[in-house]
Amino acid sequence: MKILVTGGTGYIGAHTIVELQQHGFEVVIADNLSNSFADVVDAIKEITAIRPVFEQIDLADAAQTKALFAKHPDIVGVIHFAAFKAVGESTKLPLKYYHNNLFSLVNLLNTMQEFDVNTLVFSSSCTVYGQPETLPVDEKAAIQKALSPYGNTKQIAEDIISDTIKASPLKAIMLRYFNPIGAHESALIGELPIGIPNNLVPFITQTTIGKRDCLQVFGNDYDTPDGTCIRDYIHVVDLAKAHVLALSRLMEKKNDAPCEVFNLGTGTGYSVLEAIQAFERVSGRKLNYKIVERRAGDVEKIWADTHLANTVLGWKAEKGLDDMMRSAWNWELKLSEKKN
Ligand code: UFG
Repeated sequence: MKILVTGGTGYIGAHTIVELQQHGFEVVIADNLSNSFADVVDAIKEITAIRPVFEQIDLADAAQTKALFAKHPDIVGVIHFAAFKAVGESTKLPLKYYHNNLFSLVNLLNTMQEFDVNTLVFSSSCTVYGQPETLPVDEKAAIQKALSPYGNTKQIAEDIISDTIKASPLKAIMLRYFNPIGAHESALIGELPIGIPNNLVPFITQTTIGKRDCLQVFGNDYDTPDGTCIRDYIHVVDLAKAHVLALSRLMEKKNDAPCEVFNLGTGTGYSVLEAIQAFERVSGRKLNYKIVERRAGDVEKIWADTHLANTVLGWKAEKGLDDMMRSAWNWELKLSEKKN
């Protein structure tokens, strides 16, 4: 079965393709390489011994999207990752985010309709919950006003998909990720932020390897046990596996409704300081960090109720925080070997 993976050279996309190929799916990648590199395709080949087809196209361009489906008329399902994702940048360049993230989705859905492809797994985010009133947060929790244009594109995208489902044969599973971190155990693929990382774990590993001077911990006066924010960190390989289950569920027509939503997290929250301690424990290295002011827009604490994913999707995160940190550190070490 041929699956289109948009954003397939990106961080979560690449890990998902490894799992898809290891489960017998054939993969076509569509990516414009705006935030990733073509050699990820080589790394996927090295891990799985299968080279996915790679099409460098821009999904925000309707003609290119149509040409892609015309070239691969045997595509039976789509996993849609392709999107810009930097929260801070989205507040400065909102139109860049609305244009890219939403035009590409609309083009994709239009073209899927035209080519009668009716199966979609969509990459959403726990950002849609804002600061939930009760924790752990489940899928029925209210969607709150987005704190950034990026977050808003995820909310609008969920609406676009659910409206399209009501008016067409499309069926979809929307996966709301908590905080994906870590890397494949081979250390051949991992997170590769271009420029200064926005996210905690790449900043931790880059500081420890010497690329950055000091990690800034954004605030220690939150209403949490140690005062730092709490997140539900999830190993990217666990996350990738959930996509194979979601896709198979749709393909095998096991879905209970045309539109389903699942939280993907471990169900456990860790503070920034706990994450740092886990990193220091598994790497055997001391991290240079200092406490600074809060970062605007940060949610105080969030972790997932994973009951639905556990019981309905049949998925459960297997890897703990130490595994996540160990793999992230191995990936950083491997990157530095490559450079030297
Ligand atoms: N943090 C620091 N220092 C840093 C970077 C992060 O202290 O240099 C802290 C943040 O304040 C936060 C935690 O580490 O408490 C995690 O921050 P990340 O930036 O790694 O992740 P976020 O939770 O802010 O954002 C992630 C995704 C977004 C998504 C959001 C939803 O990166 O795409 O979750 O909550 F929208």
